[in-house]
Amino acid sequence: MDKSTFEDRKPIINGPMHDSLRHDSAHKHVTGTADYIDDMPEPAGLLHGALGLSDRAHAEILSIDLSAVAAYPGVVWVFTGKDVPGINDVSSNGSHDEPLLAETLVQFHGQPIFAVIAETRDAARRAALLAKIDYRDLPHWSDIDGALANGSPLVITPMTLRRGEPDTEMTNAALRLKGQMRIGGQEHFYLEGHIAVAIPGEDDEVTVWSSTQHPSEIQHIVGHVLDIPSNAVTVNVRRMGGGFGGKETQGNQFAALAAIAAKKLGRAIKFRPDRDEDMSATGKRHDFLVDYELGFDAEGRIHAVDATYAARCGFSSDLSGPVSDRALFHADSSYFYPHVHLTSKPLKTHTVSNTAFRGFGGPQGMLGAERFIEEIAYAVGKDPLDVRKLNFYGQPGSERTLTPYHQEVEDNIIARIVEELEETAEYRARRNAIIAFNRDSRYIRKGIALTPVKFGISFTMTAFNQAGALVHIYQDGSIHLNHGGTEMGQGLYTKVAQVLADSFQVDIDRVKITATTTAKVPNTSATAASSGSDLNGMAAFDAARQIKERLVAFAAEKWDVGATDVVFLPNRVRVGEIEIPFPDFIKQAYFARVQLSAAGFYKTPKIHWDRKAGRGTPFYYFAYGASCTEVSIDTLTGEYLIDRTDILHDVGRSLNPAIDMGQVEGAFVQGLGWLTTEELWWDDKGRLRTHAPSTYKIPLASDRPKTFNVRLAEWSENTEATIGRSKAVGEPPLMLAISVLEALSMAVASVANYKVCPRLDAPATPERVLMAVERMKRV
Ligand code: MTE
Ligand code: MOS
Repeated sequence: MDKSTFEDRKPIINGPMHDSLRHDSAHKHVTGTADYIDDMPEPAGLLHGALGLSDRAHAEILSIDLSAVAAYPGVVWVFTGKDVPGINDVSSNGSHDEPLLAETLVQFHGQPIFAVIAETRDAARRAALLAKIDYRDLPHWSDIDGALANGSPLVITPMTLRRGEPDTEMTNAALRLKGQMRIGGQEHFYLEGHIAVAIPGEDDEVTVWSSTQHPSEIQHIVGHVLDIPSNAVTVNVRRMGGGFGGKETQGNQFAALAAIAAKKLGRAIKFRPDRDEDMSATGKRHDFLVDYELGFDAEGRIHAVDATYAARCGFSSDLSGPVSDRALFHADSSYFYPHVHLTSKPLKTHTVSNTAFRGFGGPQGMLGAERFIEEIAYAVGKDPLDVRKLNFYGQPGSERTLTPYHQEVEDNIIARIVEELEETAEYRARRNAIIAFNRDSRYIRKGIALTPVKFGISFTMTAFNQAGALVHIYQDGSIHLNHGGTEMGQGLYTKVAQVLADSFQVDIDRVKITATTTAKVPNTSATAASSGSDLNGMAAFDAARQIKERLVAFAAEKWDVGATDVVFLPNRVRVGEIEIPFPDFIKQAYFARVQLSAAGFYKTPKIHWDRKAGRGTPFYYFAYGASCTEVSIDTLTGEYLIDRTDILHDVGRSLNPAIDMGQVEGAFVQGLGWLTTEELWWDDKGRLRTHAPSTYKIPLASDRPKTFNVRLAEWSENTEATIGRSKAVGEPPLMLAISVLEALSMAVASVANYKVCPRLDAPATPERVLMAVERMKRV
């Protein structure tokens, strides 16, 4: 790694809120002392669960014989959908289209049909293989093509975005072209797989430890399957070993099964699927097929875009509605489309129900837009970067600021970001050198691309944009922090603790970050849409504000000074002329009977969205970034290397530059996995054959760019009043990896002297690169 990268990590001292503090658990992650759910001491009498999975993609269940399963030594209970006391459903959206255990119909290979509870995990898993199930097979299709060919239903009403006169302007455009792009899915590959432990309590009560990004939803689902109210269910999560969207809804089934068995048997139950089961029985990123028609002029300026976004949703709706909507919201990338018509096609397939994954459909929409740019660039014979710049959204006041969803882009900094990176990465000189290199190189070809990112921040479901926090100060001046967000490695707990430390001007060690629990902060949203620190940071800030107001009023009265004479200084409070250490000050406030606890709340202002009309302001603001990647491909084998990547990314005024740098680098590498080596493959029986690291290749340390220069745009500040003027960072940088695909595409295009757009689809595996090279040879 480049030395400058480390230089960038030097703490920037602006007060605790903007410091490069280490992740609160970093040392525990690397020394094995961070407790994940499977590390917690097991309650006495704990039993283990395993899933009985379907081995058909689409079939009626004629009969289920579980006698051999029940007779297996160590098995305590075997249960099916009929044994669910409440509703046999774990759908996250109230659609009731996702049975916990399939009763009469299976809709994907690997769908859970029954569960086994046994004394050991091994016994439960072995017993689960002994079921005898008779099926009557029904026609099935696993992919988008199959779904289209069979007139498959949609899992949810599609969305349409329209502005201007796309039909007439397409006809009138000087140049037109049509094309298609295939975009692959992605397995989350969190290091800690799904897990749930349920502990029965008195009466109807149950406590669940779940590896989830969404404790409140686990609480609702457990309530539904047990037919008990939410106040009987407590869900706890200290941390996840990665979620990446894969734990927004997919933990429901494991928590629900554990809770049912715990209440039935009166014993603690643990469900921890094996990696292969986890990969088969939980949803992934949606793959897409984008059909597009573009109208443009000889300069490369876009006039009209008409595109359809077909998505493989799997058997149920889950989050496919909002995911395919977000693809449309990002189908413009950073570009102004004067006339536009976009439609989603969320297709039902007989595969596991696809779900959230970092970017939530946005990356797929944005990748399509970058393909549009490439198509136009090759058609008019220009450097794609020039076509990009020509089509960027304009500055406020210009006529080029309206998105396809009728929101104005008011905070546009994309031109500045791209120009700065173009300079520092020496894009022009390197591109010329690469073109010269390719002219003389027989087998190795190089490519370079510089691509932008603009990502909308907020849940498009307006109600989710709220958060709560609970803050206590104890008599010794130590602070207890709880909020609705969950920690999955992204550093949210550290950032929110920094907000509190900053508010009270105390050292960060004075703030104890506690496990997320539905009993302390209710009705939370999933920690998702990158909005964890925006929402929970503000909620904690609000709680601190309330306590501080009480403390100031108390001190002003007690020492008879004006409110402005009470000032929080580092680890002490100045009241008039005197300075009191923070713990002593708190002790005095306690004796004066000041309430030292507060519940904070926040809801995002300004946003609204009308899905039917396709109009509104779904996003509070945008996060921007750009990356420039150079690659080398071997035209004989299709293998490639990433020689260098330069990134400039916008996080507003960073809450924690060290953590944000980690998020940018991690997201880029996860994105490059999605676009290069990670390929999901189902066989003709509808069986996922890439269900383990042996067949599914995530990036290794050796796959990272050989030179990797990452910078945050230090001059950027959020124009909206977010916490510390920061911006969300979790998802946007994943899309920086689009530069990798486009650089590969340029290297391929060199084989036909850049005359045609290679239409390189994702993932660009070496196999696909080789096939594209062969196509180029025949041009
Ligand atoms: N970073 C780590 N280390 N692990 C994760 O699971 N999830 C990503 C991102 N960064 C993830 C991560 C996703 S999908 C989202 S939506 C955000 O973190 C959620 O956290 P935030 O809102 O606090 O940024
Ligand atoms: Mo992230 S996909 O919003 O959990």
